[in-house]
Amino acid sequence: MANHTQNNKMNSFGLTLTALCCVVLVLGGLPFSSDAQLDASFYRNTCPDVHSIVREVIRNVSKTDPRMLASLVRLHFHDCFVQGCDASVLLNKTDTVVTEQEAFPNINSLRGLDVINRIKTAVENACPNTVSCADILALSAQISSILAQGPNWKVPLGRRDGLTANQSLANTNLPAPFNTLDELKAAFAKQGLTPTDLVALSGAHTFGRSHCSLFVDRLYNFSNTGKPDPSLNTTYLQELRKTCPKGGSGTNLANFDPTTPDRFDKNYYSNLQVKKGLLQSDQELFSTSGADTITIVNKFSADKNAFFDSFETAMIKMGNIGVLTGNKGEIRKHCNFVNKDRIRMASRDSSESAMVSSI
Ligand code: HEM
Ligand SMILES: *[C@@H]1O[C@H](CO)[C@@H](O)[C@H](O)[C@H]1NC(C)=O
Ligand SMILES: *[C@@H]1O[C@H](CO)[C@@H](O)[C@H](O)[C@H]1NC(C)=O
Ligand SMILES: *[C@@H]1O[C@H](CO)[C@@H](O)[C@H](O)[C@H]1NC(C)=O
Ligand SMILES: *[C@@H]1O[C@H](CO)[C@@H](O)[C@H](O)[C@H]1NC(C)=O
Ligand SMILES: *[C@@H]1O[C@H](CO)[C@@H](O)[C@H](O)[C@H]1NC(C)=O
Repeated sequence: MANHTQNNKMNSFGLTLTALCCVVLVLGGLPFSSDAQLDASFYRNTCPDVHSIVREVIRNVSKTDPRMLASLVRLHFHDCFVQGCDASVLLNKTDTVVTEQEAFPNINSLRGLDVINRIKTAVENACPNTVSCADILALSAQISSILAQGPNWKVPLGRRDGLTANQSLANTNLPAPFNTLDELKAAFAKQGLTPTDLVALSGAHTFGRSHCSLFVDRLYNFSNTGKPDPSLNTTYLQELRKTCPKGGSGTNLANFDPTTPDRFDKNYYSNLQVKKGLLQSDQELFSTSGADTITIVNKFSADKNAFFDSFETAMIKMGNIGVLTGNKGEIRKHCNFVNKDRIRMASRDSSESAMVSSI
């Protein structure tokens, strides 16, 4: 919340400058179109039910696929860290788009693209050409969090959808599970996020799953030592070895939180305290000697409200990264394609909407 206020101040300063320029240069000319500030009531008049429309689709899906709540929170994160929260992650491969979906952190890993498309169809039916895919991702993250009994926040809205994707930037900007604490801090700092934001947002690893391939080195041959990661609890190690056999394909899944795998709670931090972080990047936050993140882990482990407050603040901050507003970008008609490309996809699109309506 403190940061939100700061943004407000910065933006009203920027706005004053912009207003001045307009008055001086194009008096009575251009509309006051570009205002970089998002607003939780952005769709109040244009799509008042957007929140409940999104919620109903997610609620439905999560009844049979509770993991989807985690997958949707992750999708917003993977959007925001690459070119800002512009729904670039949703753009499919075309002649002109090199899709982020095939970047290393995303390939065979992202889930929920189909759910976002179902939400978009439902939203378009109620309010055509109004709600951006980037806003749908932001709303889906918040709704998924509450449905998993996690933190709640008012989602600032008014993002517009980008016209490009950047696969190489996805490879560069998204943190890797084998990153050290310094590398994680650097990846977050590049997005304007602090070590506290890093620890708070990593708390999303209190639900969802990871493929064995992304941590299996910790179980058998950590850093080519031929031994397991010494910062891994030996009891937990034995459990994980059952889930992820040596020389296996790596496609098995492990729960991030062994005790409440689908609930958004503060267990992530108590797990770290007993060396039960699933990824190296998780355990780094607590097991890096002398790190400033240790006290933050201890605080969040002891105080659910402190964690939830920090998570809410950090999600709003993350949701503000590089947003397009005003007349920048566009409101995509289909989240997987920029509107210009969609013309070529028209036949595919109509067969898909026929499919959706028959569900
Ligand atoms: C700090 C650096 C981070 C790293 C290195 C990281 C890495 C990963 C990896 C490797 C997976 C498993 C993917 C798979 O097996 O397919 C994963 C899953 C997940 N991540 Fe992260 N992540 C990080 C931060 C975050 C943040 C900031 C969020 C959200 C705020 C988040 C939310 C999730 C969720 C909810 C899942 C489970 C998804 C599912 O079950 O479908 N992660 N992450
Ligand atoms: C939710 O599922 C029910 C039954 O499974 C269906 O009738 C309803 O239309 C679905 N709602 C949405 C928003 O998908
Ligand atoms: C976009 O690509 C995803 C896979 O990355 C696929 O599941 C989805 O069907 C594609 N969307 C369309 C409309 O073709
Ligand atoms: C992707 O981002 C990188 C780094 O900002 C930039 O150098 C490159 O030109 C971008 N590529 C595309 C296709 O936009
Ligand atoms: C560990 O990995 C390294 C590099 O891949 C390999 O040379 C070594 O034989 C492995 N050790 C064991 C015990 O598997
Ligand atoms: C490992 O986990 C067990 C609970 O499963 C716990 O009792 C023990 O203290 C943990 N060990 C370490 C070193 O944290």
